[in-house]
Amino acid sequence: MKNNFFIKIEESSNMIKKEVNWKIINIKIYVFIMIEKLYNCKPNYIDKKTNIPIFKSQEININEFSIDKAAEIHDNALKWLFDTHNVKEEKLRREMIDKLQLKKGDTVLMTATGAGNDIKYIIEKIGSSGTLYAQDFAKEMLFAAYERTKAELNIDNYNIEFSVNDATDLPFNDNSFDATFHFGGINLYNDVKKGIDEMHRVTKNGGKIVFGDEGLAYWLKKTETGKA
Ligand SMILES: C[S@@+](CC[C@H](N)C(=O)[O-])C[C@H]1O[C@@H](n2cnc3c(N)ncnc32)[C@H](O)[C@@H]1O
Repeated sequence: MKNNFFIKIEESSNMIKKEVNWKIINIKIYVFIMIEKLYNCKPNYIDKKTNIPIFKSQEININEFSIDKAAEIHDNALKWLFDTHNVKEEKLRREMIDKLQLKKGDTVLMTATGAGNDIKYIIEKIGSSGTLYAQDFAKEMLFAAYERTKAELNIDNYNIEFSVNDATDLPFNDNSFDATFHFGGINLYNDVKKGIDEMHRVTKNGGKIVFGDEGLAYWLKKTETGKA
């Protein structure tokens, strides 16, 4: 029969072993992420359910993208926007992505991914030999993008790296991407110039950058609509 003293020592040593094992697993995940991927710093943590690295995230409930059901609310806003302007959403998205002249095997960054509405069009172009890094500042939106992509594509056949971070302070090495794409979020950045500089920094020399956002056409600015 073990006495209490030895039982206590055994319990403590098991706890230490578990702690050490957990640290080793964490280090392995981190080393894997850093070596295999293009990140230039360590994530704050890795979401246990999705394995998505979280570098920096938008404060919860601070805007319409960081609240519960943010993606569904965004779906409604987009529908209203495209219907009001009589624009076909898929046509517009495809036209913008075509400007990147992507080819199979390219490594692409998409900033402010939102609920992932452009992912399938980019994946169609780069195929299973390419890699798409999809980032957003709001976990609620990015996690919705992950879930929707999983439901829509056979995600295991493609290289899609989701991450949560700030597009004005990207955690990627310089000259990493063949192309960078952005649609619809730049007007929300605290520092728009920094957002553009960051896209430029992480895109390879000779690579392509396409970004667009909704706004008032310059020829409407002096009209009643513009003044309103
Ligand atoms: C109007 S949605 C557009 C989403 C998507 N690109 C689309 O076309 O459907 C704007 C997105 O920009 C993201 N966003 C805002 N500021 C950001 C920042 N500093 N870094 C990364 N994403 C940001 C929001 O969280 C939101 O998901």
